[in-house]
Amino acid sequence: MLKEELLQDALHYGKAFVHMGQTAQYIPELKNVSKYYLGICTIDMDGNVLEAGDTNIPFTIQSISKLVSLILAIRDCGADHLFHDKVGVEPTGDPFNSIVKLETKTRPFNPFINAGAITVASCISGKDSDEKFGRFLDFIRKLCRNEEISLNTAVYESEKQTGDRNRALAYYLKASGILEGDVEECLDFYFKMCSVNVTAHDIAHMSLVLANHGVDPASGEILIEAKSAKAIRALMLTCGMYDGSGEFAMSVGFPAKSGVGGGIAVPLVNHMGIGVFGPALDSKGNSLGGIKMLEYISKRLDYSLF
Ligand code: DON
Repeated sequence: MLKEELLQDALHYGKAFVHMGQTAQYIPELKNVSKYYLGICTIDMDGNVLEAGDTNIPFTIQSISKLVSLILAIRDCGADHLFHDKVGVEPTGDPFNSIVKLETKTRPFNPFINAGAITVASCISGKDSDEKFGRFLDFIRKLCRNEEISLNTAVYESEKQTGDRNRALAYYLKASGILEGDVEECLDFYFKMCSVNVTAHDIAHMSLVLANHGVDPASGEILIEAKSAKAIRALMLTCGMYDGSGEFAMSVGFPAKSGVGGGIAVPLVNHMGIGVFGPALDSKGNSLGGIKMLEYISKRLDYSLF
C-alpha cells in the first residue's frame, strides 16, 4: 500500500538524478527556474492526499495542457472528425517539436506532439484566443478543483517571443489545409494554454479525474465522457512521453503525460491520480527526477500494467 514514507523514499531516490538534467533551455523564462525542485503528490478515490517534496510550488503546465485542450476539442467537434480528419493516434518516435513528418503525412501523428496540439487548439470553439482561453481556464479549474489557476504572463510572453518553431509548424499545417482559421490567434491560444501555472497537487487532481473515468470523485460531477477519458489514457501510454514513451512503458508501465515545465500527470485507473514536479529534464524533455520517482514507486508496489 502507498504510504507517505514510500513517497519520501521515492523523492530521495529521484533527487540523486536531478543534477544530470537541465531546465527547458529554449524558453528563456523556464531556463531560469531552479532545477533542484522535486515533488510528488497522490490523491486516491476517497480524496486522501499524500505528498513529498515541492508539491505546492507553481510551475507552468506546458504540454500537460494538451490533455485539457484535447478534451475540449473532442467535445466541440467530435472524436470522429478530430481523429479522422485532424490528428492521428500513433506515436512518432520523433521529438515533440519535430516538423519532419508533416511533409510526408498530411495529419500530425498524434494530439500530443506540438504539431498535433496546435491543430487540436484550432478545433476549440471560441471567436478569438481570449474566448478559447477563457473556456480552457474554466475547465482546467474544475479538473484541478482549484479556482485560483491562472496565466503566468512572463512565461506566456517568453514563449510567444521565442516560439518560431511552433509558428513554422502552424503555418505548414495551414498550408496543408489541416489547420483552419487564423494562425496567429490559434498560436496565441496555444502559448497561453501552455503557460498556465499549476502545482503537483493540481496535476494529481486532474489525473484522478482521468483515473476515475472522467468523474470528479468528490462531487460526482462528470467532467469528461468516460469514452474520451479511456481514449486519452491510451494515448498517454503510447505518446504521452513523446520519443521516451516506449522506455517509460517498460520501466514504469502506466499512462503519463509530461510537460517541459517539469510536470508529469499519471492517472492510475480506478486507483489514484499522481502529480509530479521536477524541472530538470532529460534529453527528450521529460522530468528526469520525476520519471525516477515514478520508476521507484512502480517497482516497489508492482504498479506496472504489464
Ligand atoms: O510548445 C512548446 O514547445 C511548449 N510550450 C510545450 C512543449 C512541452 O511541454 C513538451 N513536453 N515535454
